[in-house]
Amino acid sequence: MKRKPLLWILCLWIAPQLYAQQATIVQIETKSNSLIFKSDENKRLRTIYFGKKLQNKEEAKWIPTPSKSTDDNSGICNAVYTPSGSWSMFEPAINITHADGNISTELLFQSAQEQKESENVSLTTILLKDPVYQTEVRLFYKTYIQEDVIEQWTEIKNLEKGTITLQKYASANLYLNAEKFYLTNYYGNWAQEMRPKEMELTGGIKVLDSKLGTRTNLFEPPTFTIALNKASAEDEGEVLLGNLGWSGNFKIEFEVDPLHNLRLIAGINPHASAYPLASNASFKTPSLIYTLSQHGKGLASRNFHNWARKYRILDGTGDRLTLLNNWEATYFDFDQNKLTNLFKDGKKLGVDMFLLDDGWFANKYPRNGDNAGLGDWEENRKKLPDGLGYLIKEAQNTGIKFGIWLEPEMVNPKSELYEKHPDWVVKQVQRPEHYFRNQLVLDLANPKVQDYVFGVVDNLFTKNPALAFIKWDCNAVIFNANSAFLQSQGQSQSRFYVDYIRGLYSVLERIRAKYPKVPMMLCSGGGGRVDYEALKYFTEFWPSDNTEPLERIFIQWNYSYYFPAIATCNHVTDWGKQPLKFRIDVAMMGKMGFDIVVEHLNAEELQFAQTAIQNYNKLKPAILQGDQYRLVDPYTHDFASLMYVSTDKNQAVMFNYLVSNRYESTASPKPVVLKGLDPNKKYRIQEINLFGNKKSSLNSNTEYSGSYLMTVGYNPEVNSGRSSVILEIGAVK
Ligand code: GLA
Repeated sequence: MKRKPLLWILCLWIAPQLYAQQATIVQIETKSNSLIFKSDENKRLRTIYFGKKLQNKEEAKWIPTPSKSTDDNSGICNAVYTPSGSWSMFEPAINITHADGNISTELLFQSAQEQKESENVSLTTILLKDPVYQTEVRLFYKTYIQEDVIEQWTEIKNLEKGTITLQKYASANLYLNAEKFYLTNYYGNWAQEMRPKEMELTGGIKVLDSKLGTRTNLFEPPTFTIALNKASAEDEGEVLLGNLGWSGNFKIEFEVDPLHNLRLIAGINPHASAYPLASNASFKTPSLIYTLSQHGKGLASRNFHNWARKYRILDGTGDRLTLLNNWEATYFDFDQNKLTNLFKDGKKLGVDMFLLDDGWFANKYPRNGDNAGLGDWEENRKKLPDGLGYLIKEAQNTGIKFGIWLEPEMVNPKSELYEKHPDWVVKQVQRPEHYFRNQLVLDLANPKVQDYVFGVVDNLFTKNPALAFIKWDCNAVIFNANSAFLQSQGQSQSRFYVDYIRGLYSVLERIRAKYPKVPMMLCSGGGGRVDYEALKYFTEFWPSDNTEPLERIFIQWNYSYYFPAIATCNHVTDWGKQPLKFRIDVAMMGKMGFDIVVEHLNAEELQFAQTAIQNYNKLKPAILQGDQYRLVDPYTHDFASLMYVSTDKNQAVMFNYLVSNRYESTASPKPVVLKGLDPNKKYRIQEINLFGNKKSSLNSNTEYSGSYLMTVGYNPEVNSGRSSVILEIGAVK
């Protein structure tokens, strides 16, 4: 058919107008950043900008949309939530099998709205809909404005008549624009947590993932840094720090696309997890939590720390208890007399609490090793004939609080629980059982098991209301994933990994509803479960079973990028060959505890430990609630140096540790430039934690201006004779 030229001209004129009317720009802002989306002529919502905040919001309309270069779709890589089976050529954020078996999804922009939750917190909700299938996707962006943190999650709603299956259901699909991208991720194993590796990303997809079900951080955590344009640095350059708040299987994909930009898709691992969604039901994904900084990792970390203390970690702005733990001091070999003596040791040391670790429970199969008794949470009558009640009273009489270790998600095959409820255990009946640390995982997808796990904690508190602390452990991964409960309900086994973690959170939710305050430590055979969803329920976490202090400097350093000191439990133990002073000095940079045989300390050591605890208590406001500054990186220097400054900038503490013993390594030959002080205040610097009658080589009489200390710096004089140096920096009143 031949068209009239006039009509053509009209069409050409109208089309851009219509488009201009239809194109919607959505802007999400924090104090320093803008995240901007724009709908294209097909109503696909695309990320056009994520970076430093625009001064003039109206100018967002000029930001060019990376457009398709040809009439295929190969140039559209920046969908806000990439669908699959329709037009997209890239890794999807979502993949659905619809009720009729169709595997295509398209998501078109419908609306966006912003709701203010408080002066500092806003929630933007974006609604996307499939034009063919009755699928709704809502993207949520919760902004914490002052902290420059965004928490992002997604809700998928099935409005079809039948059940659909979610094959992939990411939490977030980010798009970053830069010349180059550097990913820092962490890998390791038991006692080797958080070993960093920074690399330039090249074309293709790099994946961080876990399929372990529980203890999912064993080989790598869902925690990362992306540096834009150049490798990450402490105080300059643009970096994005992120953590997926999900304690189960995760998958985080980093794809450098054909336009040389970065597509980041993070969420629950779709591996063996096709999730059925009934008609009218919604699926809420976990959150990806991220912070973008234009001034390097230091600022990004402080933003994360401030956010976590204020909005995420349980009692994040409160205090923490110093403690004496008996794990490495006794392992399973103790009785009540030994313990009551340890209470006295704890008191003598000056800590707030005694923490009774593994081995206190089970009778038919006593917990004298890690091969029996797990699941049977009654006091072992031989070790503790008078029960926990007696111990708690004795602790109180000694003037110390009492806390206890639990591992309620797990069971030893040699236990009464396993004998009574074999169907509560995750296993494949037709296959041989596989054990991890001689144990199996309970099926938390089963509401009866959830009741049981809640009951374990509830009974303990009901019987012992003075119980002051719980260390919640999770030592095994899931082998032979299979739920007898799901089978009995005629439900798909591919729900299991997700339902397990939801079951866990629901138990923790119930515990917190009834016991909102009691401090709990999140532990998982060391740092096998450290994420910002679990930390809603916990006051602190155990970073690693590796407490050798040199190792620990690096482990704590790496956690410090993402998690605040108040949540990072550092215990002084007998691992390694370092002197007590070094071990205590290292533990002091976070939430301090002890796991040593106090009676093995000589008089000088005991006195040192007592004074160090007093110093710690005095410095807690700066260490636990202050701003952290990493000063000298142990990966590139012979020593590590970092400091904390209280929010009023009157109190600061600087930790310095020698990490190299190479011949003639003069660790700190020049001053270290301090950070975070008030340039106009005067400060006096005093070395603390001096061992025995050792005198400091440093002069504590000079009054330095904050400006001087942050320009010229101060030399802590770290060397082989002074392998750890702690400086208290106080504003002169
Ligand atoms: C795990 C924890 C340790 C200790 C033991 C007890 O390994 O990480 O701290 O509690 O379990 O069995």
